[in-house]
Amino acid sequence: MKTIILAGGNGTRLWPLSRTYYPKQFLKLKNMDRSIFQMSFERCLKLTDSDQIYIVTNANYKFLVLSQIEELGYKFNENNVLIEPVGKNTLPAIYFGVKEIQKQGEDKVAVFPSDNLIKDELTLINIIKKGLSLTSEYLITFGVKPYKPHTGYGYIKPSDPLGDGYKVSEFKEKPDYDTALSYMENGYLWNSGMFMFRTDVFTEEVKEHCQEVYQTFNLKDINEMFEKAPSISIDYGIMEKSQRVAVIPLDIKWSDLGSFDAFYDEYPSDEYGNIKFNGDILLESNNNLLYTGKDKSVALIGVNDLIVVDEKDTLLICKKNYSQKVKDVVDKLKSSK
Ligand code: GDD
Ligand code: MG
Repeated sequence: MKTIILAGGNGTRLWPLSRTYYPKQFLKLKNMDRSIFQMSFERCLKLTDSDQIYIVTNANYKFLVLSQIEELGYKFNENNVLIEPVGKNTLPAIYFGVKEIQKQGEDKVAVFPSDNLIKDELTLINIIKKGLSLTSEYLITFGVKPYKPHTGYGYIKPSDPLGDGYKVSEFKEKPDYDTALSYMENGYLWNSGMFMFRTDVFTEEVKEHCQEVYQTFNLKDINEMFEKAPSISIDYGIMEKSQRVAVIPLDIKWSDLGSFDAFYDEYPSDEYGNIKFNGDILLESNNNLLYTGKDKSVALIGVNDLIVVDEKDTLLICKKNYSQKVKDVVDKLKSSK
């Protein structure tokens, strides 16, 4: 068995913590001893030896990848860090890893994003192993029971029982709010973003459902390959279309630290629903998240449901439930440069 870690995203929805040259997966967040990338790496080590782990990223993050692994005290073969000349989202990234693995023969592969926060690693590994027997025929997803109609996730409809999981009759990536609400009421699960499959089964599905990616990856030159590949996620490109998807329920605490609203759900709040890490003062204020540094005092009076993120050169103030829009701020900043 092999594992692939996707570590090439730029985590713009966590700006200003996450920056182009230091994205969220490599950050050491408050109250956490390791970065989420480091957690993902150690998770893979519970499934495979280090030389069976492939990390797909870009040239800017190669040093961060290697230095964070070294910091954990492991040796890692640099050749297993696969560098995309340009990021084209998760389908090209995963297929790049799959093609590299296939050079040594077909195998089972578990794919991990580097933004999932899962504390109960042992249970997770046992759940992943339950899916192994289904990989001869299916692409395996891991489904989490939704607790709100989040529009940033994929939704999976389980149907007939299959081994320790279910066959999937529908996969819908990032639905709108009303659709997400009805999915939630009708027993759909959130896609956790982890996948498992056999390389040959995956390749067959790429060939059938995403010819553009399949064809461009037959090119010899890696620059040309990525230049010509469409930018598409595995969710839209394969999972929504394939008839061979299965889901294993993931009955553990899981979160995608994808936005500051997810942060709010992750950290414990006080009796007024406020989360703060420093000596900040809140008066008559409820349900706020203050993610601030030690070098400045922050006070809030009479305000509710705010996210305040204070980085040295940047201050973000955002209403709760709007944090998916932080990405638009980053896009504006980039286009104004
Ligand atoms: N190497 C590489 N190249 N990695 C990438 C790229 C890329 O071009 N784009 C994204 N990634 C990495 C990110 O760093 C992250 O770890 C992972 O791939 C998933 O990408 P996200 O951009 O975070 O996806 P998402 O959160 O919007 O949606 C996915 O995850 C959700 C759960 O967390 C989907 O799979 C959803 O269906 C799912 O619910
Ligand atoms: Mg994500």
